[in-house]
Amino acid sequence: MKFKKMNTQKITRPLLTGVLGVFSALSCLGQEHMPDKGLKDYYRSFFSIGVSVSPRVLKGEEGQLITCQFNSVTPENDMKMGVIHPRENEYNFRGADSIVAFALRNKMKIRGHTLCWHNQVPAWIFKDEKGDTVSKEILLQRLKDHITTVVTRYKGKVYAWDVVNEVISDKKEEFYRNSAWLSICGPEFIEKAFLWAHEADPQAVLFYNDYNEINAVKRAKIIQMVKSLRAKGVPVQAIGLQGHWAFNEPTEDQLEKTFADFAALKMPLQVTELDISVYPKEHEARERRAGDVDTSYNRERENSQAEQYRRCFTIFRKYKNSLTGVTFWNLSDKHSWLDNFPVQGRKDYPLLFDRNLQPKKAFKEVVDF
Ligand code: GLA
Repeated sequence: MKFKKMNTQKITRPLLTGVLGVFSALSCLGQEHMPDKGLKDYYRSFFSIGVSVSPRVLKGEEGQLITCQFNSVTPENDMKMGVIHPRENEYNFRGADSIVAFALRNKMKIRGHTLCWHNQVPAWIFKDEKGDTVSKEILLQRLKDHITTVVTRYKGKVYAWDVVNEVISDKKEEFYRNSAWLSICGPEFIEKAFLWAHEADPQAVLFYNDYNEINAVKRAKIIQMVKSLRAKGVPVQAIGLQGHWAFNEPTEDQLEKTFADFAALKMPLQVTELDISVYPKEHEARERRAGDVDTSYNRERENSQAEQYRRCFTIFRKYKNSLTGVTFWNLSDKHSWLDNFPVQGRKDYPLLFDRNLQPKKAFKEVVDF
């Protein structure tokens, strides 16, 4: 074995990192058809590699795959307001606690997701006991209580929070997304959310997170909002690019421009929800049609997806000075939210591991550099 000949006096930092990499990679050995290194080991000197998880996926073979491949987790649903705060005086920490315990046990980072969003939000938050819409004062007080309780509970454990998710509109002419938050509070809820999260845990890195940031118009709005919040002293400290993409979108040029524009802000960036659909990109949900019948993972789909993963990771590595993490949205093709979006019930294969948890061609493209 190589280790026996090593003179420990001469261990330099890079060598030590290499040795530690080999040790943590050992957790992958013994898994059938599994490369002896995990994604996190290939990318150790670039950025952390995460995965979104539910408590169910932390056990058995899937749990093993997670610890062997990744060094960061994001709860897919368990920290969202609808799950963690279902009624005004009732919090449900069960799922989130189990994910946090798993990550700490396995020395993984934890991204918190998400404190304020227009979706998966409990109905009670916008209503009083008569069912009428609450005032701005009451809604902001509820948001403050929510953020303070959740962030305080995981203080020192969750290292980064998606504080505000998706408040920028997809419509060209509209700046903020039209939501109950906006109509009741105006845009003030955005800055308050960051201030309260920062008060609850001053060490946590606070993200603004959104999708379709490859669209130049939407990207410009995100950048404008972040700049103006920061100019006011609001602690928006990092930007999350969700990265729900497809084999044909973004183009290399779009991705390059996206990263160049965000990197110019000199703020940490993360790709927070990466998946690459094997179907041509569609932005809106729609009915299943006759043309959707072929849902096989054929050679052509496998190749075009692998190519797109290669393009994306080449750019990610190029921007390693800005990029501090890449998180995949789900673990394997066994289950992805894209199985039901944009087309209900159409099987997709957007991840690096197949339905049997084996690495795909795309995996090789990502680690071969
Ligand atoms: C958005 C949210 C995620 C997730 C995806 C779809 O990107 O930020 O939490 O719900 O939609 O699964």
